[in-house]
Amino acid sequence: MRGIIIRCPDDMHFHPRTGKMLKNVLLCTSKVFPRGVVMGNLPKPVATTDDAQMYRAEIYCVDPNFSPIMTIMLTKSTTPQIVKEAFGRDVRVLKYIPNNVSTNSEEGVALTELHNFYPVLETAEKLGMIFSGHWESPLDESGAPLPEIDREVHAIPFLQEIVRHFPNLKVVVEHVTTREMIQYVESAPKNVGATLTVHHAILNISNVCDSEGKIRSPDNYCKPIAKGMIDTDAIIRAMTSGNPKFFFGSDSAPHPMSAKEKIPPAAGIFTAPVALPLLCQLFEENDALSRLENFVSRFGAEFYGLPLNEGEITLRKNPWTVPDYLGLVHIFKGGKVLNWRIA
Ligand code: NCD
Ligand code: ZN
Ligand code: ZN
Repeated sequence: MRGIIIRCPDDMHFHPRTGKMLKNVLLCTSKVFPRGVVMGNLPKPVATTDDAQMYRAEIYCVDPNFSPIMTIMLTKSTTPQIVKEAFGRDVRVLKYIPNNVSTNSEEGVALTELHNFYPVLETAEKLGMIFSGHWESPLDESGAPLPEIDREVHAIPFLQEIVRHFPNLKVVVEHVTTREMIQYVESAPKNVGATLTVHHAILNISNVCDSEGKIRSPDNYCKPIAKGMIDTDAIIRAMTSGNPKFFFGSDSAPHPMSAKEKIPPAAGIFTAPVALPLLCQLFEENDALSRLENFVSRFGAEFYGLPLNEGEITLRKNPWTVPDYLGLVHIFKGGKVLNWRIA
């Protein structure tokens, strides 16, 4: 196969940031993905209609042709009224990161406090607003801290509880990294979907940490942390299966070198410039190229109830070397040769 043409894809989870960083990174996504779910975990979280409107305007100034799917973060201050008003102004997603679990989540609600926000979730359910979450628990059942590798599995009971309690709430399980979570999503009702990243289909824990569990490759460090080979295999299987519950969300999350050099390093991998070529390679290696289009261009839109993108994009087999950096941000696979490129 020398090339393929697919419908223009969606990125159902990415972090274009704000200010100077937004100006640098948004185009890497928007050149390829004309639409995407913009996560609002800015230093001051996007938490109200006004915040979302301001952020939308900032994005529009950088690329007026990009269609952002806007989100507000569930914070300790979120009320049913805030959610209702935001939905009325075209905010489609209530985004959840448990308190202190990932980048800029200090104002988030802990998994153990989520029951206090049931009126908020009930409102989202009634409106048809998506509840999209980063499902990791930092603590075990006794309240003791968990190693990063165990945090996703320990969040499954909390997720199950939400799904049981809100049978009509559309729930997204973001960036699945474990076989257990893949199995949960497969067995869950139709209103539960999941985004998969390309880096979690490529990396495993040994690409991130040394044998003592210390982070040795900050550029491969993100949350949830990459897991074992069994998990990677489960992700690839789900991704290439044609199951419409699984769709693409890059979780492209740029951090400047200075933040990556800290101990611990900032969590997040910048994949926007390489995401589609890497997916192409992965689907080809798994004899599933014919299923790529549904994974990146159909299933996400359908889960969200959005029309499919118009237009097409061509990918060709034509090796290129990935640049190491965009400005001060390391690019995933920087310095490596990729077989597929966007024509
Ligand atoms: C993301 C970021 O930096 O915004 N980081 C990450 O490691 N994935 C936040 C997130 O998606 O959890
Ligand atoms: Zn996350
Ligand atoms: Zn993310």
